[in-house]
Amino acid sequence: MHAHSGASGTSKDAVSAVGRRENKMELCIVGAGHVGLVTGACLAEIGHRAVCVDDDRQKVAGLLAGQMPFFEPHLETLVRQNHARKRLLFTESLEGGIEQADIIFICVGTPSLSNGEADLSAVEQVARRIAETVRTEKLVVEKSTVPVQTARWVERTLAMYNGGGSKCEVASNPEFLREGSAVEDFMHPDRIVIGVAGDRGEKLLREVYAPITDGAFSCPIHHPCTNDQSVPLLVTDIQSAELIKHASNAFLSMKISFINALADLCERAGADVTAVAEGLGLDRRIGRSFLNAGIGFGGYCFPKDLQALVNIAEKLGCNFALLREVERVNQSRAAVVLRKLKDRIWLLRGKRIGVWGLAFKPNTDDVREAPAFRIIDGLLQEGAEVQVYDPKAMDSARPKLTGVTFCEDPYQAAAGAEALVLATEWEEFKAVDLSKVKALMTWPLLLDGRNFFDKEAMQEVGFEYIGMGR
Ligand code: UDX
Repeated sequence: MHAHSGASGTSKDAVSAVGRRENKMELCIVGAGHVGLVTGACLAEIGHRAVCVDDDRQKVAGLLAGQMPFFEPHLETLVRQNHARKRLLFTESLEGGIEQADIIFICVGTPSLSNGEADLSAVEQVARRIAETVRTEKLVVEKSTVPVQTARWVERTLAMYNGGGSKCEVASNPEFLREGSAVEDFMHPDRIVIGVAGDRGEKLLREVYAPITDGAFSCPIHHPCTNDQSVPLLVTDIQSAELIKHASNAFLSMKISFINALADLCERAGADVTAVAEGLGLDRRIGRSFLNAGIGFGGYCFPKDLQALVNIAEKLGCNFALLREVERVNQSRAAVVLRKLKDRIWLLRGKRIGVWGLAFKPNTDDVREAPAFRIIDGLLQEGAEVQVYDPKAMDSARPKLTGVTFCEDPYQAAAGAEALVLATEWEEFKAVDLSKVKALMTWPLLLDGRNFFDKEAMQEVGFEYIGMGR
């Protein structure tokens, strides 16, 4: 994969540049968080003019000065270039942002309430402010992950607070972006889903995504571009589109909890879960992805969306106990790790444990719902001394993690430890001098929470190696 500057003079690019000008639309993105900023930058990159609105003054000032509020591969380049081209703008003013827009994308946060329900107050607030402001016809698109039927409420809110007599149509266009590969996912999606109530919404959204569905843009990441075939665009009713997003995340979470539950069985039965996953994955109906056993899933989306789906299902009178079990299996992974440690080094009180990786997955500095934290909590409760290192997530972890030692590098995190737990599979850890690590430890126990290392190779180095389900 090569990052490249985006602008080049090949004839293909010239053609797509012409296409881009024709495709240009005026878009407003409300919320410059992970979803909103990636969406805005990518929509600008494929030729539109996007205004990102956020009420966080500091964030907007930072973005105007070229500072990213979080780390996401390729995003900084896209933001800077498109800002310089005046195709990507930032403002605090919702009124200013939506004035020129044909389409308004709602990308604000939908965090969990304490009962697991999605907190939709930011969505409602934005809908209300849009209603109070717009004077011309707009398409209002919900992109935030929301429970099914939210669009109906947005529609009602738009009607309730609309003094100007204009009619906004509502549509749903869920995103499927993963952190760490969000730009790539945006530019090369498996599918684009649009849930619409009428022809106008469909036409506008088809136009927005035309450069991607037709493959008629020059890819800012791959050169040559790997995505010349067209991308499917699925048009559904609004409720179905809303559910597709929640159902996709719940299904992927279910695959992970399935393989994790199976990992425990593999250990007891003397099987290797990586081999079992390989065999399962070769069945095209199942597929190999999201069958990596380990310490469980985290991040901002899976845990929250799973709970929100269970919650809305129950609200609508459906018992989705299957998904409650997915969550239970996931939460129990930390206890599995602690048990494994105790099986090898006896009591944890007073023992020094190194933890490699804090981010919920590699290539991000995001530690929200990170499985590493659940393990660290358990270790601290047992009275262990914990020393941690992560290549990117130290700063985001510091305010959320007390009672641990933050280390300069992977060696320091292993020094003097009776056990080392790998919690995030950063490629960087493959480049570490493992003989040196082993020599630094009091006892060379390596608990590979992601089945990242080769078992035999680790045993050759001299580690007592334990994986997950092998
Ligand atoms: C996810 C969805 O993939 C994305 O489509 C949606 O828009 C947002 O939620 P993300 O949260 O960025 O994206 O992370 P993802 O790469 O899906 O991983 C989620 C968690 O599952 C991570 O903690 C990861 O370590 C874990 N995981 C993933 C496993 O434990 N095993 C696997 O096989 C795959």
